[in-house]
Amino acid sequence: MANFDSGYISGIRIFLLLVITNIPWTLQLSGTVNPCCYYPCQHNGVCVRFDLDKYECDCTMTGYYGRNCTIPGFWSRIREYIRPSPSFYHYILTRFKWFWDIINNTFIRDTIVKLVLTVRSNLIPSPPTYNSAYGYISWEAYSNVSYFTRVLPPVPDDCPTPMGTKGKMELPNATLLVETFLKRQKFIPDPQETNLMFAFFAQHFTHQFFKTFGRMGRGFIKGFGHGVDLSHIYGDSLERQYALRLFKDGKLKYQIINGDMYPPTVVEAPVYMIYPESVPKEKQLAMGQEVFGLLPGLMMYATLWLREHNRVCDILKKEHPTWDDEQLFQTTRLILIGETIKIVIEDYVQHLSGYFLKLKFDPELLFGVQFQYRNRIAVEFNQLYHWHPLMPDSFFIKGQEYNYSSFIYNNSMLTDYGVEALVGSFSKQIAGKIGGGKNLHPRLLHVAIGVIEESRKLRLQPFNEYRKRFGLKAYKTFQDLTGEEEVAAQLEELYGDIDALEFYPGLLLEKTHPSSIFGESMIEIGAPFSLKGLMGNPICSPEYWKPSTFGGETGFGIIKTASLEKLVCQNVKKCPFVAFHIPRSDKDKHIPSEAKKSDEL
Ligand SMILES: *[C@@H]1O[C@H](CO)[C@@H](O)[C@H](O)[C@H]1NC(C)=O
Ligand SMILES: *[C@@H]1O[C@H](CO)[C@@H](O)[C@H](O)[C@H]1NC(C)=O
Ligand SMILES: *[C@@H]1O[C@H](CO)[C@@H](O)[C@H](O)[C@H]1NC(C)=O
Ligand SMILES: *[C@@H]1O[C@H](CO)[C@@H](O)[C@H](O)[C@H]1NC(C)=O
Ligand SMILES: *[C@@H]1O[C@H](CO)[C@@H](O)[C@H](O)[C@H]1NC(C)=O
Ligand SMILES: *[C@@H]1O[C@H](CO)[C@@H](O)[C@H](O)[C@H]1NC(C)=O
Repeated sequence: MANFDSGYISGIRIFLLLVITNIPWTLQLSGTVNPCCYYPCQHNGVCVRFDLDKYECDCTMTGYYGRNCTIPGFWSRIREYIRPSPSFYHYILTRFKWFWDIINNTFIRDTIVKLVLTVRSNLIPSPPTYNSAYGYISWEAYSNVSYFTRVLPPVPDDCPTPMGTKGKMELPNATLLVETFLKRQKFIPDPQETNLMFAFFAQHFTHQFFKTFGRMGRGFIKGFGHGVDLSHIYGDSLERQYALRLFKDGKLKYQIINGDMYPPTVVEAPVYMIYPESVPKEKQLAMGQEVFGLLPGLMMYATLWLREHNRVCDILKKEHPTWDDEQLFQTTRLILIGETIKIVIEDYVQHLSGYFLKLKFDPELLFGVQFQYRNRIAVEFNQLYHWHPLMPDSFFIKGQEYNYSSFIYNNSMLTDYGVEALVGSFSKQIAGKIGGGKNLHPRLLHVAIGVIEESRKLRLQPFNEYRKRFGLKAYKTFQDLTGEEEVAAQLEELYGDIDALEFYPGLLLEKTHPSSIFGESMIEIGAPFSLKGLMGNPICSPEYWKPSTFGGETGFGIIKTASLEKLVCQNVKKCPFVAFHIPRSDKDKHIPSEAKKSDEL
């Protein structure tokens, strides 16, 4: 009889489940909340649902055991005791310049850089695990590279609240969030003195792998490179690449204006580009990435890399007169991939980190350790890389001010001023601070709203779950997060619970490190994706990383000595000031001076 009863009752439950799916609170009433909605498994344990209301945490290899993977094993206990917090490392690495100057010239530098690379990269699962359709390990998620991958599975569909079990039944209106917390009142300059040269580099560089495939939906990526493949220069399909190539000496098509090399027009290189109708075809420049007509800063970088490609082709051709067009093209592409990674690590990440430790691009550092040379772009990486607060209120070119309307899609600006003038001007104009809130230009609010809405469609887990996933402590209160009272109270009112705070708002509203462009989470979550993506490139593998891959010592040397400054100065007639930060009067100073608006600005 008892058996009959319980069978009968669970039969009713299943019946109820079938009838009332998608009305989560009713599910809760019927006592069958998916237990994984509580995120019970700590320390990266994996939650598996059993029966209706049971779960198990798989703690394999986490170093912890117990029902929720909360009990540390011997080594984990020791590590918990001696491991300093990430903010401690950050503190050390961004201070004591004299100390790091000594380290720079010793073998200890290699050891520390190696440690940074391995510790960071190890936080990224490789091979990749989940995607937005599969919250469990599956062959489809592994093999279908049309998806962005993700580090944490989606919030299960049948949870009582949008973020799991915490917070309100409905998330705050995304427009309201952005208007209240992110919209710029008054331009806040970046205390790290980042400039527009950096901002446009970031945008140009990342748009080779952040290409959401609108037609297929938010969780899908267009182009299958999943990393630094330079598809923004060469196109993301063979067809597009062929349209851009000259098929002579390995070069790309180009046009000469005022004696300088520029990308060809879409008449000469028929590829799909996005331009408003007001721009005639004879003025539309053709590039690997179809969106780069948007901003003169992007067209400027496209021009620099085009010139660099054709320059390297000439150098290779001289040493290898027997090589055909194809081999010259392919080898040059690999050299440019190497140059890109070198510049990103030693100029771009170096600047962004604020570290006094001199970073180093040297694939050999990883040859002795376990490392997978593969990469898959993650939804979370895409989300966090929306750094639009960098954008200023207006753009100053050679002292002339341009508003957004006259800057956007203005593709005569590049040829009117020339690359030198744009580089010089962008290098001198300071960019906005990314973290801390209230610094997003009113024209760009829709971008942040889109990011938040995307994260809801894709059911991203709460900010605190990501903090834990990347080895950080969950915030206990909103005050803890923002380091103040007012915004914290407003957030609390809207979200109801710190454990229901969303990923992107969390990243942007977290208190920033002192004199820094953003807070702890952006660094601790962003750096692993970034470094894994860079070092996971096949050219960094032992089989590829040798002179012959790059046409001999000359090509190998071009990679090993590449820098932002050389990229510019070897491709213009007169070298302007070029850096990822505005000019610093006193070289060692790290705090910005008052004199921001020089006449050149
Ligand atoms: C495991 O986590 C669940 C959900 O958070 C909690 O209710 C339970 O008490 C935890 N059990 C142990 C043994 O920690
Ligand atoms: C660091 O050391 C390298 C060589 O060991 C040197 O070329 C470089 O200039 C040094 N950088 C600084 C900032 O001291
Ligand atoms: C990947 O998954 C999507 C959605 O299910 C599907 O449309 C597409 O054909 C798949 N791609 C491949 C290569 O199987
Ligand atoms: C959010 O608020 C804006 C204006 O405040 C409104 O236009 C929009 O419809 C709201 N969105 C939702 C989903 O309620
Ligand atoms: C932008 O600048 C142009 C030219 O100076 C001017 O005609 C236009 O009204 C300005 N637009 C806005 C929105 O200020
Ligand atoms: C584009 O930039 C040029 C300067 O290079 C400027 O003269 C022109 O007014 C701008 N075009 C528009 C539509 O604002």
